Amino acid sequence: MTFSLETERLLLRWMTSDDAADLAERRSDPLVAQYQSWIAPYSLAQAQSLIETVTAHDEPVIGEWAQPVIVRREDGQTVGDLAVRIGEDGHSAEIGYTLHRWAWGNGYATEAAAALVDYLIRDRHVHRVTAMTDPGNSASQRLLERLGFTHEGTLRESFTKGEETHDDMVFGLLDREWRGPGGGAA
Ligand SMILES: CC(C)(COP(=O)(O)OP(=O)(O)OC[C@H]1O[C@@H](n2cnc3c(N)ncnc32)[C@H](O)[C@@H]1OP(=O)(O)O)[C@@H](O)C(=O)NCCC(=O)NCCS
Repeated sequence: MTFSLETERLLLRWMTSDDAADLAERRSDPLVAQYQSWIAPYSLAQAQSLIETVTAHDEPVIGEWAQPVIVRREDGQTVGDLAVRIGEDGHSAEIGYTLHRWAWGNGYATEAAAALVDYLIRDRHVHRVTAMTDPGNSASQRLLERLGFTHEGTLRESFTKGEETHDDMVFGLLDREWRGPGGGAA
């Protein structure tokens, strides 16, 4: 069955070729791209090519990046996307998140990332979730701290973007931390 998750305000669904224009628009915003791996503007052809790669399967599979879309249920508007890759060992996963600039400041990314973390830990039995972020990306760091991630260290000059190298902060969350002291029935 194709991946899909619902939260109070959002639907997380699998990306399709129809999302290409929206993805290109989101990634072409220089402020959205500032701390990310791509350089704005981001063409429709780049978006189409990325979508081909991330839709090879219909749910997150081990060793490959997937990119579910975040849709606001109220009006069907796409507010952004998530990135997820379950590691080769099946025990760890890395996540990312990107919202259109107009959607920032509403808690959508936190709500979507929380649902993804919950899916990874409860449904996919992942032991550890990792997220990497640029030291300048304070919105991303606040989001991770809200979800209970711990800043575990900073990799020096490990992230290359064009001609520049940046430090990369490592955040981690363990399944027992997510489930809480009682094992988290919720
Ligand atoms: C990273 C990114 C997704 C964070 O977006 P965001 O809007 O700050 O995150 P959320 O959607 O979770 O919203 C949280 C903010 O909304 C506020 N908010 C308003 N209503 C809220 C609600 N109902 N629930 C939770 N938070 C709410 C929070 O107070 C918080 O603001 P604060 O951090 O200033 O306190 C966004 O900056 C982005 O897309 N950046 C570009 C891509 C990027 O860099 N991604 C990260 C790569 S590591």
